[in-house]
Amino acid sequence: MTDDLLKYRSEFPILEETVYLISHSLGAMPRATYERLHDYADKWATRGVRAWAEGWWDMPVTIGNEIARIIGADENTVVMHQNVSICQSLLLSCLLPLKDSKRNKIVFEELNFPSVMYAYEAHARAHGLRIEQVKSDDGITIPTQRMLDAIDEETLLVPMSHVLFKSAFLQDAKAITQRAHEVGAMVVLDTYQSAGTVPFSVKDLNVEFATGGSVKWLCGGPGAGYLYVRPDLIDQLQPKTTGWMAHEHPFAFESEMHYAPNITRFLHGSPAIPALYAAESGYKIINEIGVAAIREKSMRQTQRLIELAEEAGFRVTSPKDPAQRGGTITVWDDHAAEITKELIRREFIVDYRPGAGVRISPHFYTKDEELVLVVAEMKKIRDNGEYASEKAGAAF
Ligand SMILES: Cc1ncc(COP(=O)(O)O)c(C=O)c1O
Repeated sequence: MTDDLLKYRSEFPILEETVYLISHSLGAMPRATYERLHDYADKWATRGVRAWAEGWWDMPVTIGNEIARIIGADENTVVMHQNVSICQSLLLSCLLPLKDSKRNKIVFEELNFPSVMYAYEAHARAHGLRIEQVKSDDGITIPTQRMLDAIDEETLLVPMSHVLFKSAFLQDAKAITQRAHEVGAMVVLDTYQSAGTVPFSVKDLNVEFATGGSVKWLCGGPGAGYLYVRPDLIDQLQPKTTGWMAHEHPFAFESEMHYAPNITRFLHGSPAIPALYAAESGYKIINEIGVAAIREKSMRQTQRLIELAEEAGFRVTSPKDPAQRGGTITVWDDHAAEITKELIRREFIVDYRPGAGVRISPHFYTKDEELVLVVAEMKKIRDNGEYASEKAGAAF
């Protein structure tokens, strides 16, 4: 069977040097990113301050429009920020202080990304919010019914992960959003681990907000987080985490705030322009291929990885049902942490998370034979006890 997506391999320099199976953490850098960063420096060097008017100022929205295509949003409903953590706090700043002290509950899964939990817990202490963490029985999945039962008339917001970072469990965002809407609650969907590997549309899901970043499946590198706001809410919200870029007339330098009547009201101060230049090449490739084609290949390769790992006597901890998982397979062994370190030393780039094991992620650029190679290497390390020494560098 020919794999058309392998033609993109030559666009990613690191694939020539390593077996790169870590796109759930840091996607490979596209070769074109060298040029884009050069373009950035060139623009600054030759156009100086005129660069702002020649594209820089609008980049949080123009680059956001590239993300909008990936997550199924309308144009001009996504803005770029540094990361998910700041986007969550920015959203909370729109909702606090509470208008209705009875609607003060925040519901999310206990396997949420820690940064998100920290942001809500810090605000809860200061603003009288109650947090209900929905428990997992196995440290891998969250029963959807338990999420639905936790969301009630007192729930303000459900800031949930679409795909859980540790186990790649894919939550039923549609059912959870429907439940939230039945009782008048809103949803912030963290699409970091789904965008670029699982097709979805924030419009179909009808979530109020979505946020994610570019470090992983989007191959866009750090510093390019994004925030989607449902169009009907844009001019109803007034972020308190704000700044001059959110003003209707930023260059009037008025002393009073008048929020822009569009998505730029969710900006604050000067944007991280180099990060936006760096991120663009990844989005272009993802949009060119299309997430549906990426998912089709991912389903096939993750299934193959499960078979290979089980044949080699490893226990797969991520969900076996492809409809319930994102793009990652997690493989358990009592020495999973040491196996991971040794794999990295041998140029098989994966990582380890406590409770889940070795995280392995094929992406559109992965060859089938690399799946065979990584599992064979893991088996060799385990069977021969060839674990990395304590002194080996720590995996990230
Ligand atoms: C689901 C999820 N959310 C958020 C983050 C990261 O958050 P931030 O962009 O604030 O670094 C990660 C990254 O590891 C993640 O997997």
